[in-house]
Amino acid sequence: MTVVNIDDLREAASRRLPKLFFDYIDGGSFAEETYRRNREDFSQLSLRQTVLADSAEPDLSTDYLGHRHALPFMLGPVGFLGLYSRNGEQKAARAADAARIPFALSTFSIASLAEVRRASSGILHFQLYVLDDHELGEQFLRAAEDAGAEALYVTVDTAITAIRERDVRNGFRSLTRVSPRLFASLCGKPAWLFDIAQGGMPSVKAVEHRPDFGSGALEQAANLSRRIDKRLAWHDIARLRDRWKRKLVIKGILSPDDAEKAKAIGVDGAVISNHGGRQLDGATSTISALPGIRAAVGPDFTLMLDGGIRRGSDIIKALGSGADGVMLGRAYTYGLAAAGQSGVAQAIEILRQEISITLTLMGCGSIGELKSKGPHFVLKTKPSA
Ligand SMILES: Cc1cc2nc3c(=O)[nH]c(=O)nc-3n(C[C@H](O)[C@H](O)[C@H](O)COP(=O)(O)O)c2cc1C
Repeated sequence: MTVVNIDDLREAASRRLPKLFFDYIDGGSFAEETYRRNREDFSQLSLRQTVLADSAEPDLSTDYLGHRHALPFMLGPVGFLGLYSRNGEQKAARAADAARIPFALSTFSIASLAEVRRASSGILHFQLYVLDDHELGEQFLRAAEDAGAEALYVTVDTAITAIRERDVRNGFRSLTRVSPRLFASLCGKPAWLFDIAQGGMPSVKAVEHRPDFGSGALEQAANLSRRIDKRLAWHDIARLRDRWKRKLVIKGILSPDDAEKAKAIGVDGAVISNHGGRQLDGATSTISALPGIRAAVGPDFTLMLDGGIRRGSDIIKALGSGADGVMLGRAYTYGLAAAGQSGVAQAIEILRQEISITLTLMGCGSIGELKSKGPHFVLKTKPSA
């Protein structure tokens, strides 16, 4: 099939992946209201067209989280990439490095931090789920330091995992082993099965030394989710701030109050996120939450945004509304599932090209200009719900 945009990569991913993995990536929680809102609310904003602006190719580089990056977006943490494509985490890291943007590895990964580091010398970040097992948490932090992870995202919107109804219907939530029914469904996607089977039975490297997490990725994943610390509180973030000397970013902020608390505790930034509509259904979209949060924390506190990014224009709207940078979730995961490393590269290139063309048509010469004159370029068309 011809791939022109991220939706096409999504379609290609749905053809290649077993249904239960595709639905796990694609779905949101409960009625999927927030999941839809993340997309819909981008269309509440419009872009100013300016003509005859004598535009050269716009400069897409910009600063976030301590570096100047080639593009204003990066690859955010997505769990179990190695189940969608063999060595998926390494492939995503390599594609990010080739585009000179960071890759954030999820706690819930098939590959270990060390394996990802061996595969790529690019900028690596690590996403931490704080587990009720503090010794294991400390091992994660040491592995992140050893692998040269420059930033740590502590995800705070998962005190309990919401029900994703597509997963329940597929039997995915209760799955810990490859049942005959699952095996039959996996065989329906031979290209995917052949690729994954070459790596043997996938398992989560970071807990391979822990028999209490079980064996095989499915059982380990179920146990890891169960072990997320439900009682995580602000004082734990303060402790983590003392422990982790590099960039610390809190992921899953959606209200100005929480953003102010994060700033007061001394973290380096926040990701405005509702976990891609996979957690609190009914929560606001991230793009509608952004202006209030920016107003609360002031201009100098780093704000990243994720949720529903499928178009270059979404990224431009986020940056023009006060985000320092944007993180991709499903957009690159569809690419990985569809075509491995080249699929991730294709997702990045599609968005790069869309941003470049859009800025040119807006008469805007750079991401820097977009950020500094945000309200000039990004206009509110309708009041948000
Ligand atoms: C399949 C999948 C797995 C995810 N796993 C994680 C994870 O392990 N840690 C985390 O902090 N966020 C995780 N997220 C959330 C993403 O980091 C991000 O917040 C979300 O995907 C953004 O929405 P978008 O996919 O619509 O762009 C996951 C998202 C998806 C779709």
